[in-house]
Amino acid sequence: MLIRRERTGDAAAIDAVHRSAFAATYASATGNASATAVHTPVDPPEVALVRLLREDSAWMPTLSMVVEQHDDVVGHVCLTRAAVGPFPVLSLGPIGVRTDHQAGGVGSALMHAVLGAADALDEPVVGLLGSLGYYPRFGFLPGVRLGITPDEPEWTSHFQVRALSAYDPEITGDFRYAEPFYEL
Ligand SMILES: CC(C)(COP(=O)(O)OP(=O)(O)OC[C@H]1O[C@@H](n2cnc3c(N)ncnc32)[C@H](O)[C@@H]1OP(=O)(O)O)[C@@H](O)C(=O)NCCC(=O)NCCS
Repeated sequence: MLIRRERTGDAAAIDAVHRSAFAATYASATGNASATAVHTPVDPPEVALVRLLREDSAWMPTLSMVVEQHDDVVGHVCLTRAAVGPFPVLSLGPIGVRTDHQAGGVGSALMHAVLGAADALDEPVVGLLGSLGYYPRFGFLPGVRLGITPDEPEWTSHFQVRALSAYDPEITGDFRYAEPFYEL
């Protein structure tokens, strides 16, 4: 597996990754198993989210990464600029792996790569909304434990943060995502 930064020309393949990854998520969430087997008429919102983020000032080209296998893009993750009060931080997401490549280590490889890159860039904190069963293995803990909470209170239960080497305990308060996260 090859992990590299997103390049010009990857957008359609990245759309396809999230279309595959999140269609399955929404199908299982609604109990509609057949939705994974037939054409999904409406894209999951994560497809549009990545496109909007790419056009936003919060986009960080150095931190949008894909996994390539046999010249095929099978996974994608991006970190974008976010803020905790006056402190610039990062948000992670979406992350997606094509359903035909899940549970083979692709998602973990993307997580390690993008967190390592953020750490090397001296970013202090990464926040995300996600499964409490998946992200703690990458060092994420509930945001409330570091005094960082999302500015949408209903997100608090699944909001997690990862402190990187440049973490400063003064970074506390409301976590604000890039605007596209609020537009979906
Ligand atoms: C979540 C996702 C990115 C993980 O990538 P992956 O390549 O399948 O994961 P890996 O092979 O690296 O890791 C597999 C492990 O993750 C766990 N896992 C995968 N999705 C999970 C989830 N939603 N909740 C909890 N654990 C999850 C598996 O149970 C497995 O655990 P194990 O190592 O203890 O057996 C991928 O499954 C995906 O795209 N899912 C659909 C989209 C999604 O939910 N994105 C995240 C939104 S927060």
